[in-house]
Amino acid sequence: SVSKPLAGVRLTITAGPTREAIDPVRYISNHSSGKMGFALAQSAAKLGAEVTLIAGPVDLQTPTGVKRLDVESAQEMLEAALANPSDIFIGCAAVADYRVANIAEHKIKKNAQSGAPQLELIENPDILKTIAEQNPAPMCVGFAAETRDVETYAIDKLKRKKLALIIANDVSNSDIGFNSDNNAAVVLSADERVVFEQQSKTSLAHQLAHYIANHFHQNFRR
Ligand code: C5P
Repeated sequence: SVSKPLAGVRLTITAGPTREAIDPVRYISNHSSGKMGFALAQSAAKLGAEVTLIAGPVDLQTPTGVKRLDVESAQEMLEAALANPSDIFIGCAAVADYRVANIAEHKIKKNAQSGAPQLELIENPDILKTIAEQNPAPMCVGFAAETRDVETYAIDKLKRKKLALIIANDVSNSDIGFNSDNNAAVVLSADERVVFEQQSKTSLAHQLAHYIANHFHQNFRR
């Protein structure tokens, strides 16, 4: 229907940072708040979607009518994503690009003799790219947070990760992006470019959810 364009549509979304253990008490992570992903999950649920929200460690309330799965590492996030097949997949999480190769079983102690420890890092799986390569694959939507050449990098990601849409934002502007309550975006696809002006993340999420729903109906509904 017009008011519930995503009724009966399964939508999985990742949000927040991932946390990559170094030892039992330390980790590598980033400043993602999860706000944009949680707002999108809420908006998609309002449009009738069956939403699974795969959340890294964030301090946010579960949106109403949304199934939430809490994870820590990128590997756990990928497993949860693969275990929850969807019609639309939105990668909103700020996944750590690397993890520690060998997580220490015990707390690493400061040692004057051996000096600073060397951490060996290995690459994490690309969750969004992996989901886009599944058969059948859902309609995949990515985010590109960049500090320069935003649209150039976004188009590259759109192609490389085989996405239907990419939502690009400039995180060099501290009024928007990480931890802020506001955001602005440019949505790019193979043949579209739509600008969403700066507004609250809630209101932007609402507009993006409608845009994603329209794109799904025009290009993916079989
Ligand atoms: O390549 P980059 O990390 O900038 O791409 C960002 C997009 O890819 C976001 O949608 C993010 O959620 C997703 N991503 C992912 N798994 C990764 C890295 C990024 O799903 N390991």
